[in-house]
Amino acid sequence: MRKTSFIPYKNQLIYCPILVTLVSHLNSYTMYTLTYESKAVPNLTNAQVEDILKTARAFNSQNGITGCLVFYLNGFIQILEGPKEKVTELYRRIENDPRHTRVNLFSEDEITERNFPDWGMAYYPISENSLGHAEFLQFKRNLRLLADLSKPTNVTAILFWKRMKFLISSPPKRVK
Ligand SMILES: Cc1cc2nc3c(=O)[nH]c(=O)nc-3n(C[C@H](O)[C@H](O)[C@H](O)COP(=O)(O)O)c2cc1C
Repeated sequence: MRKTSFIPYKNQLIYCPILVTLVSHLNSYTMYTLTYESKAVPNLTNAQVEDILKTARAFNSQNGITGCLVFYLNGFIQILEGPKEKVTELYRRIENDPRHTRVNLFSEDEITERNFPDWGMAYYPISENSLGHAEFLQFKRNLRLLADLSKPTNVTAILFWKRMKFLISSPPKRVK
């Protein structure tokens, strides 16, 4: 990063502090996306999931972060997009959140356009505990349809949809 504060001039490197500021400004405007999956800790309650969602909606909308969060059979999958510094700083917090484990970041990209511009944060409460079986199947169908209709423009979004489809293809365990 420091090297960027030097500009070459007549075979010399001239120190240019204004470049430091410029680069750091550019960094905060660079659009970034990342996607990860994780496992909820055992016995995570619906109330705790709702809590995550509430925090996410409030913080993300105030910080220009969009994306999608899916919760299915104790697995989370999330894609985030927005200003690079904000997204990476948020991801650091999410990674250390004790409500989930095995956080696996599987793709990240610098991007020029959002793939989820209208979604504050979408969450699908896919669980047979809280929904009837018919609604549950309908949710899955809707998600699959959404994945098929989506036109991802970066590798991270492509992998997010692919992974999400794989996640929801696992059959749910019957609740006793
Ligand atoms: C699966 C999962 C997804 C999360 N997604 C977001 C999110 O999109 N935005 C957000 O602000 N917090 C999200 N959180 C909550 C953060 O991990 C963290 O609790 C929150 O940013 C508050 O951080 P703080 O307790 O350090 O203030 C998520 C947590 C989990 C477990």
